[in-house]
Parts: sequence; structure tokens; C-alpha cells
Amino acid sequence: MSTNTRSSNEALIGRADVNDIEAILAVAAEEGEENVRAVKDNADAIFTWDYEKGRRPALNKLYEKAKHSQWNGETDLDWSIEVDPLELVEMQRHSFGQTPETRAAQIAGTPFEKWGDKEFDQLGMESNNWMLSQFMHGEQGALICTAKIVETVPWIDAKYYAATQVMDEARHVEVFAKYLDTKLKGHYPLNVHLGLLLDDIIEDSRWDMTYLGMQIMVEGLALAAFGLMHMVTPEPLLKQLLRYVMSDEARHVAFGVLSLKEYYTELTFDEIRERQEFAFEAAVRMRDRLLQQEVLARMDIDTKEAVKFVMDDPGRQMFQQMLFSKIVPNCKKLGLLDAGDGWLRTKFQELGVIQFEDLTDTSDEYESFALGQSELAESTTAIA
Ligand SMILES: [Fe+2]
Ligand SMILES: [Fe+2]
Repeated sequence: MSTNTRSSNEALIGRADVNDIEAILAVAAEEGEENVRAVKDNADAIFTWDYEKGRRPALNKLYEKAKHSQWNGETDLDWSIEVDPLELVEMQRHSFGQTPETRAAQIAGTPFEKWGDKEFDQLGMESNNWMLSQFMHGEQGALICTAKIVETVPWIDAKYYAATQVMDEARHVEVFAKYLDTKLKGHYPLNVHLGLLLDDIIEDSRWDMTYLGMQIMVEGLALAAFGLMHMVTPEPLLKQLLRYVMSDEARHVAFGVLSLKEYYTELTFDEIRERQEFAFEAAVRMRDRLLQQEVLARMDIDTKEAVKFVMDDPGRQMFQQMLFSKIVPNCKKLGLLDAGDGWLRTKFQELGVIQFEDLTDTSDEYESFALGQSELAESTTAIA
């Protein structure tokens, strides 16, 4: 065992090689999960008697913005739009420029070689159900984590802001669930790797770890994922839904960056190292979930061989890396990349995502995601 056990890949993520497929697949969901999942929250609920509003001006500004940025998932989205799950898959293929010819060239010599249109159509529809189900479950994770932040953060401006985020996340769970239930067919359970990450975040007793796990890592990835899906989805309802959700998510990630930036200046070298390790562990768990192992398990194919192909596919790798385009600059802004001996920088190099470090961080760009006056005006009219 290495002398620095706490920092080894085995200690942090349970395997030495981040690309070890056997180990990734060995973590599988249990059949017949209960309808509820109980996770122990070990943090103290904190009251503060310092009620001075605006002691932290950036958080106060975010809170005031949030009050004016509320929308209504029932009335602001056009639920009258009909969605055909197969047509959605065809539209997505079209926007990726995929044709039967390009696909045939791509799958030659792979476990997918014998598949025809029927199997690929099914895979596309399952994949959309899976992805939107993970968004929905992740949103519920955010709902619970933000409620936890309201309880545990010691600053009044942060409690106020987090309270607005609880409402935002309720609306996000609501709209993803409604889209899945009324426009597509079938849910997937929570991905096991995402579940482990949510458990870690909720169980941790330190208030700032909820921020790092949820606001920086999970929401940072979600913001990038929603952005990519928004770009390639011509289906107007889903596009509108993602646009509205993203306008909130950018604010949420900014909340994380602004809060932690202040708090991290008070931490010791060892404490910062624990945050770096937590960020790396979260990054690996999110990367593992992207292999969609549950989808492949439902299809008539050798899951391990199929996952190997998916993992090695260059287009897939690029897509996967893009999902870290928000996380890396935000970690840099927080000083986590280079703190101490630059341990997290090395780890992000290992994951192949360090190239995003100089992109704009979310605390600087969140306003560009805000809904326009006309979009919010529609909201007001609809409610009236
Ligand atoms: Fe959300
Ligand atoms: Fe969020």
C-alpha cells in the first residue's frame, strides 16, 4: 500500500485505473429497489443571529436576481407540443449528421455490427429515456442538497439564496418528470454511480462539501450537458425546457463558486487537499455514469464488449470531455486546481479534461444565461 493511502486511486474510487471497465460494471444497481431511498445526513442545522442582509454583496445580488427570475413549469412551457419518441431520435441523428452509411462505417468490426435500424432506433429511444431520467433524479438530488444548504450554511445571505434554489429545483424535477411521463415512454432508475455520489454529498457533515459536490460538480456537469442537448435538440418543447432550466442552473453554479471562494481562503493545506480529492472522486463517478451501462444491459448485446466500444469511441470521448467544460474553470477559480502541489491538476490531466481550465468561469458568465424580459413577461401574463 502506498504511503499516501488517502490520495491513491484505490482509496478514492476503488480502482487503480480510472478506465477499468470490469470495476466500473461491477458496481451495479440492485434489482427491485424500494420506492424510497434513505440516506443519513450527518450535518448540524445552523441558526445564525447575524441578520445583516447584504453582508456578502455578491450573494445578495444573486438572491435579488433569483426573486425576479422565477418561472412556472406548468404555464411557461408549451405542453401542447406533441412529441414522437422515434422522431426525436431521428431529429437528433440528423443534427449529428449521422446517416446509415456513416453508422455502418462506425460499427464495422464492433459488437454492434449485426444490428439493424430496429435495434438502433430502440437504443436511441432508451438512451433518451435514460438521460432524461438521470437529469430528473439529479434534479431531485439538487432539491435535497439545497434544502440541506439552507440548514447548514452559517451565512444569512446564503440561506436566503439557497431557499430560492430549493424552489428552482422543485420546478426542475417537476418539468423533467412531466416530459418523461407525458412525452416519452418509461423511466430508468437512478444510475448507481450518480447514486453513490449523491450519497457522499448528503452524508458529509461539512457544509461546504454539499456546495462542492452539488453546486460545483453535479450542477457544473448538468449545465454543460443541458447546453449540449439544447444545441443538438430541434424538438421545440425539450429545447424550451432546457433553456429555462439552464437559466436557473447558471445562477446555481455561480452561487457555489462565490460561496466557496470566500470559504476556501480560511482552510489549511490538508483541508484543501480533502476538497481536491472530493472533486476528483465526484468527477470519476460522473464520468462512469456516462457509459449508460443500464441501457446496454436492456439491449440484446454483450454489455462489457459494448461498454468497451462506447468508451473507446472518439466522438463519445469528445462529448464526455465537453461535459467538464464548466467544472474545470470553476475549480480553477476556486484555487483547487493548483493548491498545494497541484494534485487536482494532475488528476484532471489523467481524466483528459484539463484543456478547459481557461474557459470563462460561471461566476462571470451566469448573467448571459438569464431569461430575457419577454420570456419572463410571458410568465407573468400566463400566471395572471
Ligand atoms: Fe436544477
Ligand atoms: Fe440547480
